[in-house]
Amino acid sequence: MENMFRDLVNKKASLSVIGLGYVGLPIALEFARKFRVIGFDIRDDRIKMMRKHQDPSRELPEAAFEGCDIIFTSKQEDLAQASFHIVGVPTPIDGHNLPDLNPLLSATKSVGKVLKKGDYVVYESTVYPGCTEEDCIPVLEQESGLTAGKDFKVGFSPERINPGDQNNTLTTITKVVSGNDATALDNIAQTYEAIVTAGVHRAPSIKVAEAAKIIENTQRDVNIALMNELSIIFNRMDINTYDVLKAAGTKWNFLHFYPGLVGGHCIGVDPYYLVYKAKEYRYHPQVINSGRFVNDSMGFYAAKQLVKKMIAAGKNILHSKVLVMGITFKENVTDIRNSRVSDLISELRSYGLMVDVTDPNADSEEVEEEYGFRLKSKYDSDYDAVVVAVNHDAFLELTENDFKSMMKGKEKGILVDIKGIYRNKIRELTYWSF
Ligand SMILES: NC(=O)c1ccc[n+]([C@@H]2O[C@H](COP(=O)([O-])OP(=O)(O)OC[C@H]3O[C@@H](n4cnc5c(N)ncnc54)[C@H](O)[C@@H]3O)[C@@H](O)[C@H]2O)c1
Repeated sequence: MENMFRDLVNKKASLSVIGLGYVGLPIALEFARKFRVIGFDIRDDRIKMMRKHQDPSRELPEAAFEGCDIIFTSKQEDLAQASFHIVGVPTPIDGHNLPDLNPLLSATKSVGKVLKKGDYVVYESTVYPGCTEEDCIPVLEQESGLTAGKDFKVGFSPERINPGDQNNTLTTITKVVSGNDATALDNIAQTYEAIVTAGVHRAPSIKVAEAAKIIENTQRDVNIALMNELSIIFNRMDINTYDVLKAAGTKWNFLHFYPGLVGGHCIGVDPYYLVYKAKEYRYHPQVINSGRFVNDSMGFYAAKQLVKKMIAAGKNILHSKVLVMGITFKENVTDIRNSRVSDLISELRSYGLMVDVTDPNADSEEVEEEYGFRLKSKYDSDYDAVVVAVNHDAFLELTENDFKSMMKGKEKGILVDIKGIYRNKIRELTYWSF
């Protein structure tokens, strides 16, 4: 236990990663360049792909698997080979926006069942402050019959990768690490230092590390919510928000946030974890909840603005066709889960509009499974309106003529440009953006 890091380096001990998704797989592969790694996931179909050097999340190239000392397994008993366990499973919210700890506690049980004296367990999943010590450690102790601190060590090291970002990656982002005591912190810090070239920040406690991660995303959420609210105000004033932000952004201390749809499983989810825990302390967060309310309303709001424009243009809503471009939760990623574009689509359909959806990055089968419709790979040329919902690189160079070619009654078409990509470029079409 004193020299876990040395044992990992000498390959006397192995490291396991539990949950091989967007977060877990890059960590497992990076560690597998230095240590012996057991990659564990409950999804056998995903394990089979990884054995063939395919990333089921479609983020990593085949080359990322080369030169790695790793076995991929869905057998819980294989975890017993490891002494340093890293948990990177999802921490979603349920239908009432409350934390759903089921995957986390189920992964914790799997680790607890194989836990030996001297082992380490480090959580990377985003949680509220107190979750590791109050929710996870009791399960580890119950399953193993061991005592945390005395028999095994625990730590928390939040994952800070940004999906689709090729510049800020696991190895180049400073890693916050924490442990339940000084020995744990030392070994956990040294272990991560072996792969993170940017170095580590040693947080004074597990709770501080948990809180640090949750406020990174809460801060973004609240700031984007302010931009979204401003865009609602400026829309009424007939001022383009992006033009305002460009002008205001020339001041040195103006913060650069932009309006938009806030989806995915981090920014739109993590604030709810903090809200939940704050209530246990009899504080009802107002600012955080307001931010969530505003951001969660924006898909519906954009749909209503489009419908108003269509009515103003004399279009018959019940016979109109709209093309929505982009369904992933943000630009240049393949992940479609928790995409707020789905709110926009369902709102448009609730008015009786016919809506086609296209996205060069998303997988049509996944979209059908998640949202119940398929993507169009070839779209029509008789749309009444086009909504560019996501600023994928593939969309950036589109011109007014490209949009006209998608529309019927060319000059009377409407372009909704959620991210303001085409502002100042559209002369003839009716144009609207946040
Ligand atoms: N995706 C990101 O960019 C990102 C960034 C920072 C933090 N996070 C946080 O990291 C955590 C993981 O997110 P993700 O995006 O990698 O999730 P993901 O959905 O991509 O992957 C999770 C993986 O865990 C597996 N899994 C689920 N339950 C399991 C269990 N009980 N035992 C073993 N495997 C199990 C799933 O099969 C899946 O392969 C979450 O807490 C998330 O908030 C994610």
